[in-house]
Amino acid sequence: MLDLEAQGIVRSQLLFGKVKAISANSVQFEFINTDHQATYFEGRRYGKGEVGEFIIIESQVNLILGRIVEIKKDDLELSNLEIVGRIQLLGSIQMDNLKVTAGIDYYPSINDLIYSAPHDFIADIPRRMNSTRPKVELEIGSIDLDKDCTITVTPEKLFGRHLGILGSTGGGKSFTTARILEECLKKNSRVILLDPTGEYRDFTSEDVFHIHLGNPIYPLKESLACKLPPESFIEADFLALFEPSGKVQGPKFREALKSLKLAKLYPNFYPEGYIPKIDAPKLNYIQIINSLTVNINDPKCSFNIDKLTLQIEHECVFPEGQEGYGSKAVKIPERWGNHDGGSFANCLPLISRINTIINSPPFDTFFDVNSNHKSLTNVIKQFASSNKDAKKLLRIDLSGIPFEYKAREIIANCIGRTLLYASRKGEFKNKPVVVFLDEAHNFIGKTIGNEDTLAKLDAFELIAKEGRKFGLNICLATQRPRDITEGVLSQLGTLIVHRLTNDRDREIVERACGEIDKAASDFLPSLQPGEAVIIGNDFPIPLTINIKKPTIKPNSEGANFQEYWA
Ligand SMILES: Nc1ncnc2c1ncn2[C@@H]1O[C@H](COP(=O)(O)OP(=O)(O)OP(=O)(O)O)[C@@H](O)[C@H]1O
Ligand SMILES: [Mg+2]
Repeated sequence: MLDLEAQGIVRSQLLFGKVKAISANSVQFEFINTDHQATYFEGRRYGKGEVGEFIIIESQVNLILGRIVEIKKDDLELSNLEIVGRIQLLGSIQMDNLKVTAGIDYYPSINDLIYSAPHDFIADIPRRMNSTRPKVELEIGSIDLDKDCTITVTPEKLFGRHLGILGSTGGGKSFTTARILEECLKKNSRVILLDPTGEYRDFTSEDVFHIHLGNPIYPLKESLACKLPPESFIEADFLALFEPSGKVQGPKFREALKSLKLAKLYPNFYPEGYIPKIDAPKLNYIQIINSLTVNINDPKCSFNIDKLTLQIEHECVFPEGQEGYGSKAVKIPERWGNHDGGSFANCLPLISRINTIINSPPFDTFFDVNSNHKSLTNVIKQFASSNKDAKKLLRIDLSGIPFEYKAREIIANCIGRTLLYASRKGEFKNKPVVVFLDEAHNFIGKTIGNEDTLAKLDAFELIAKEGRKFGLNICLATQRPRDITEGVLSQLGTLIVHRLTNDRDREIVERACGEIDKAASDFLPSLQPGEAVIIGNDFPIPLTINIKKPTIKPNSEGANFQEYWA
């Protein structure tokens, strides 16, 4: 193939129209001759005036890149010559080095000539928008017209402002994710993949480190069982998980958490790991409270969850001790009182709920202090800080986590928070990490709990907002953009959008992108599986890409009726 620079990009064989009218962001054109048929040129098909086609306008000063968005017959009575079309103006191309910039420097004039843009040039647009030649590029696919014209993008542009992979179900999001992961594995990258369905378990290259929480449906032999240490949970998580409700349970629950933390801080006073209160002296307790120097509300302040129900029982006491009965009763403020049956009865449902949850899989593996599973927090830390020869992809299989008790949301949020804290400490500064989250609508922007215990699962939202500065970027794949909060969506600087049929979803995409991309979103419902439009600040020219099939495919096939129902 000849060098584009040497050969130029304006080919007389591809001439098809001329400018008829000009407005601020579009141009009307008419065909030059009546037989404006598609042609083959250098073995490739050119529509020469078809909707969706990229075109070049040869103006006096420079070249202008545009895309045909509409073709119509001006007046039905008139001849074929009166077929006109509208071109959306996308960017300018410098004549000498063919660099592409977004926006129009000089507008075309009436009768300027219009050509179809050569395919190899279109594929090269993302690269031609870079000022220098980058060392690391990811080849994600080819232009929709031509499989040979591959498109490469830099990780900065793809992940730098966080990436969203959107599309209706079956549009190809998981395949695209797999493709991007594969490209990352070819580089010296560091990627963490949260795999909620176990779809990516076939990524068995030696660069991949598999771990799982709970009991995955399809366990991998080489996968390492991990636990989330109770320290990764904060009070809000426990509130959301155990949902203490009403006027009694909430305060007793909070009080119990406080007591357990104190007991953990002062094992000499409380060797059993909890604070006995029923008819017990207050002395140590008051001393501790008065001399407390640590912040007990610090999320990292841990406690022994095994004793939680026992502690709640001990919170159900009368505030002061008492000796004698009736008129002879004497208050003893140095002791707590007797067991308060009324509030205990109120707390019983909470206690049984806590017992059920902490003894149910997978929580039993998290909360069992004796389990010898590795701590996920440590694994992430090691993964992020390890040297060059280390694994490149850490896959966290979440398929073993049940849907009950909002476990998935809470646990994914805990993982997000672990990553966020690590990034704030600067652990990813030298080696940026990208976190991939498939089926993100299940995890992001959820608010859970009842009205007493409302907890916002906002770890990924915070990563979207501040992670960029700490070398932590996210890539979300979701089929329901409307379920993701505005806060996260507006932080996604780059979108790979597959077929998207729902109007509200498309509206959201339009809102998330600039003015120029409105026209691009009109093409969204007609995309094929595996085809996607890439839009965003760093991609001002919305290209339609045929995402290359990954070599290792995600296991996302639907049911095979032909085979099993035959
Ligand atoms: N790049 C591609 N090339 C060829 N075929 C593809 C491509 N991407 C997707 N497909 C086809 O589309 C099907 C669905 O793709 P995929 O599982 O990635 O969809 P999805 O958007 O993740 O769906 P869901 O929302 O249900 O998870 C695949 O099984 C495959 O046959
Ligand atoms: Mg999928």
